[in-house]
Amino acid sequence: MLGQPRPRKAARTRSSREICAATESLALIVLGIETSCDETAAALVERRADGSGVVRADVVLSQVGEHAAFGGVVPEIAARAHVEVLDGVVEAAMREAGLGFEQLDAVAATAGPGLIGGVIVGLTTAKAIALAAGKPLLAINHLEGHALTARLTDGLAFPYLLLLVSGGHTQFLAVEGVCAYRRLGTTIDDALGEAFDKAAKLLGLPYPGGPAIEAAAHTGDATRFPLPHPLVGRPGADFSLSGLKTALRLAAEAVAPLSPQDVADLAASFQATVTAVVADRARNAMAMFREAHPPAPRPALVVAGGVAANRAIRATLGEAAATAGFAFVAPPPRLCGDNGVMIAWAGAERLALGLSDPMDAPARPRWPLDLGRAA
Ligand code: KG4
Ligand code: ZN
Repeated sequence: MLGQPRPRKAARTRSSREICAATESLALIVLGIETSCDETAAALVERRADGSGVVRADVVLSQVGEHAAFGGVVPEIAARAHVEVLDGVVEAAMREAGLGFEQLDAVAATAGPGLIGGVIVGLTTAKAIALAAGKPLLAINHLEGHALTARLTDGLAFPYLLLLVSGGHTQFLAVEGVCAYRRLGTTIDDALGEAFDKAAKLLGLPYPGGPAIEAAAHTGDATRFPLPHPLVGRPGADFSLSGLKTALRLAAEAVAPLSPQDVADLAASFQATVTAVVADRARNAMAMFREAHPPAPRPALVVAGGVAANRAIRATLGEAAATAGFAFVAPPPRLCGDNGVMIAWAGAERLALGLSDPMDAPARPRWPLDLGRAA
């Protein structure tokens, strides 16, 4: 694995599908850097010749405490915090893996989408390491990192259906290859994690809202506050979540001032409603996926992103998948939230296909996975 020849750059004339079908034979070690939101993360992942992967180091430094007082991520604070700690986080990951930069096969970093200040910090650091060590650079789409994680954790083969639910994204994707993603549904307003965060804020619960709502819901009565189920029963796999948040606010105002039991009941009602909405949308998305991929005998539904840590949502999705004849895959919660492993792994997958990026690869605040660069 050490001292291997650098993978050649993809020929510009090959289509992404041809590149995806290329034979893969290298064992590779990639450093991955993630700084697109409020986690500063670095990881080392080894991708073996048979396509399996091993995590050699995984360091995540959360800034949650620095943003909690503001009820959400403050982009300027996030960017400064990344600058202050990223060198140390990379150093810690390299130490954990017992590797030097000269032993890497490539350096990968999130190049978007995300908060642009943080993305620039991570991508610039990756470029500096890649240049100094003479290694290829991989400018990774953060969503691709989430999308491919299940191949590392569960060795999943293409194609599979992915539900990506985080603070900034809510979408169903048909993951057909490393370079081939098709969006089957998305949110027309708030992201699912954003809805949890806003719901928590209006109930006086701390940031990030998802874990706080989940904890409060444990002791709550989910039937006390009937809330609307936007788009449920309608065709397609899109979401609309802003009306739900408004309905929760009105329900809370009607019983204010809120007792701890009111908060628990509202949190439980909100979580149960969101869970039912997700299950309904997932049923439609699985039918759409099956129609587009009829040969898959037992297709898989994968859930990823920070909201995938929610146990009620995981359990309900698992039931919906079983009913539809889908396998259900949920990576461990640590790899559902933002991390460096997913960026290193996406980098290794691309590198194995002969892909790399130029040193002037841009940081991109917006970068839809299904519309971005093909390869
Ligand atoms: O993927 P992630 O770590 O960062 C983004 O790329 O956004 O996702 C963070 C989001 C936050 O909105 C947070 O409230 C939500 O994931 N989240 C949860 C849970 N844990 C984190 N939402 C619901 N239930 C949870 N247990
Ligand atoms: Zn994310």
